[in-house]
Amino acid sequence: MLKLTYIIFNTKLFKMIQLCSQDEISEGLAKGFLIGERNIFAVKKNDIIFAYENKCPHLNIELEWLEDQFLDSEKNFIICSTHGALFKIEDGLCISGPCEGQTLTPIEIKVDSGKVYILN
Ligand code: FES
Repeated sequence: MLKLTYIIFNTKLFKMIQLCSQDEISEGLAKGFLIGERNIFAVKKNDIIFAYENKCPHLNIELEWLEDQFLDSEKNFIICSTHGALFKIEDGLCISGPCEGQTLTPIEIKVDSGKVYILN
């Protein structure tokens, strides 16, 4: 059963939906989630978790070719498996590829008591 919690953030009311425990996303790795109709992924870098919609900004297709494979071989960038476009983990900015200069759509997240929530 989905447990709903609400939070006021920047004067707006958000529904908090639990994504996973903090430990489920290892340093330098990413993990995909399907939350209702939303296809998203989360990645941890330098102990900070970032989350984005799993959709390239130029063709709106999913980024990964294998489950949870969102990063390049050096684990430095998010990569589009179809075209090799590279996105910065910290802000989703595409630095190379057909969508250079565009960004992935960020998902607001909150980490609380070892659990990761998306704010909806
Ligand atoms: S779909 Fe946009 S870079 Fe691959």
